[in-house]
Amino acid sequence: MTSRRSKAASGTLYGVGVGPGDPELVTLKAHGVLQRVPIICVPQSETSQDSYALSIVRGFLDLKRQEILRISFPTDDAQGAARAWRDGADALAVRLQQGQDAAFITEGDPMLYSTFSYVLEHIRSVYPAIPVEIIPGVSSVMAAAASSGVPLVTHGQRLAILPAVYGIDDLREAIASYDTIVLMKVNRTLLQALASLERLGLAGKGVYVRRATTDREQVVRDLNQLTEEDLDYFSLLIIRKGE
Ligand SMILES: C[S@@+](CC[C@H](N)C(=O)[O-])C[C@H]1O[C@@H](n2cnc3c(N)ncnc32)[C@H](O)[C@@H]1O
Repeated sequence: MTSRRSKAASGTLYGVGVGPGDPELVTLKAHGVLQRVPIICVPQSETSQDSYALSIVRGFLDLKRQEILRISFPTDDAQGAARAWRDGADALAVRLQQGQDAAFITEGDPMLYSTFSYVLEHIRSVYPAIPVEIIPGVSSVMAAAASSGVPLVTHGQRLAILPAVYGIDDLREAIASYDTIVLMKVNRTLLQALASLERLGLAGKGVYVRRATTDREQVVRDLNQLTEEDLDYFSLLIIRKGE
């Protein structure tokens, strides 16, 4: 006897940008998907207590009806992280192949320095039949420009976005080629970058924005005030040559 049961259609994987922090900056489209899908996939580093992206959208979810699927990843072990993304994407694929939709949430926009790209790469290469839809979000870069009132670029000016892991040589190179540089993923090397600004003749040209659009937002224009204790992962520096 042959079975007439057809294979269930795969669910859709949504890569959802949830914006920089203020829940009012979650787009209507993201909001609709987040309320509808049965699975919310949440990336979370092994060292953090909670997911920043989840804290932004928690109020939109109904956890009696929706399941949180966490992908936990190490931040100090590249191979371990690659394994975590692969395993996490495989676990997610099982659920998608059962016909359930899932939203992978990411702070800001999912296509800018986002963990979603690791999952996307694995799903695309190993499970090409799974449909994927990406919903853009308000990036922290745009939010920080708005909070500080600093236009990023105008007319024919050039913008560079870099992770703040570079030394003075890279910064000098970026400053030579671009009008505005945004340094993201702030860590201790930011203080070296700040010292470099003085040497590059750009003292007074930077603005530091922490936790933009949240109730803990802080905009620091006098960078001499910043100490290591003030540094926060959820912050960035805008360096604008022309002002
Ligand atoms: C892994 S990246 C994610 C970027 C995100 N996909 C986006 O579009 O903004 C994390 C970095 O984004 C920046 N960031 C995220 N949220 C922020 C906020 N509310 N205020 C300032 N910077 C933020 C910080 O530089 C942080 O280190």
